[in-house]
Amino acid sequence: MDKTTLAAYREFLKDSLRLAIDFSQTDQNRGEPPPPVQKPPRDDQVLIPLPGRESFGDFAGTDLIDAIAHRCSHRRFRDESLSLAELAFLLWATQGVREVLQPGVALRTVPSAGCRHAFETYLLVSDVTDLEPGIYRYLPLDHALVLEAAPESLRPALSRAVLNQGFVAAAPVTLVWTVIPYRMEWRYHTAAHRVIAMDVGHVCQNLYLACASIGAGTCAIAAYHQELMDRLLNVDGEEEFTIYLAPVGKIWESGK
Ligand SMILES: Cc1cc2nc3c(=O)[nH]c(=O)nc-3n(C[C@H](O)[C@H](O)[C@H](O)COP(=O)(O)O)c2cc1C
Repeated sequence: MDKTTLAAYREFLKDSLRLAIDFSQTDQNRGEPPPPVQKPPRDDQVLIPLPGRESFGDFAGTDLIDAIAHRCSHRRFRDESLSLAELAFLLWATQGVREVLQPGVALRTVPSAGCRHAFETYLLVSDVTDLEPGIYRYLPLDHALVLEAAPESLRPALSRAVLNQGFVAAAPVTLVWTVIPYRMEWRYHTAAHRVIAMDVGHVCQNLYLACASIGAGTCAIAAYHQELMDRLLNVDGEEEFTIYLAPVGKIWESGK
C-alpha cells in the first residue's frame, strides 16, 4: 500500500483541519440564514401523517440492556409486512424531532454536531401495511411521509443499486439516508464532512436498537453504487446524495 496516499486519506479522520479554518468566513458567521431543517415537500406532494408517540406504547418494554447485548446485523427477513405504526416508530427513533428551538434548529432523537442534522430519510417500501409500494421521504418536522415516486420495478432497481446484495431488496422496507452537506458546511465549512460521517452512525445505531422493540432486524449498508442509488432517489448527487442505508424486516428469534 502506498503510505503517502494512505496518510493523506487518514487526515480526514483527524480534527487538525479545524485549526486551519477561519470560522469568521463561514456562511453562518457571514449572516446567511440557516438552511431548512428538512427539505421542503413539493407543492404537488400530499403529506401522509404517521401514527404518533401515543401508538408507540405497543413497542414499550424492550430491555435496553438486552437490546444492546443481542444487537447484530440481520440479512434474512420473514415474509411479513411492517405496520405503519412500526415504521413510524423506527423513523421517530432515527430522525424524530424532539423540540424546535428556532427556525433552522431542531433537537432530534439522535445527536448531531452543532445540531445541524444534515440527513434526509428515504424509504423504499415494498411491504408496509397501508402504504402502496414506492419511494417515500420522511418529514421529521411534520412526522409525516411524502410519496416521491412509484417506479414499477423498485426491487430490481434497488438490488442493482446495492451491488446485488440481494437481501436488501428482499426486505419489506429499506431506509436510505441522504446527506445535504450544506446544512453542516453552513456552520463548519470544511470541518463539516468528518462530523457528517460520525452523525450518520448515530442514526443507524438507533435503528438497530429500535428494531429490537418490534421484532425486526436491520443491517447497515455502506457498499452501494453511488450513481445508481442517487438516480433511484432522484437526488442530484452534489447538493444531496446517498450516504448510508439499511433494510428492515421481521426476523426469526434466533436467525440471522
Ligand atoms: C459502516 C458499516 C458498513 C457496513 N456495510 C455493509 C454492507 O455493505 N453489506 C453488509 O452485508 N453488511 C455491512 N455492514 C454490516 C457489518 O458487516 C456487520 O456490522 C459486521 O459484520 C459485524 O456484525 P454484527 O453487526 O452482526 O455485529 C456494515 C456495517 C457498518 C457499521
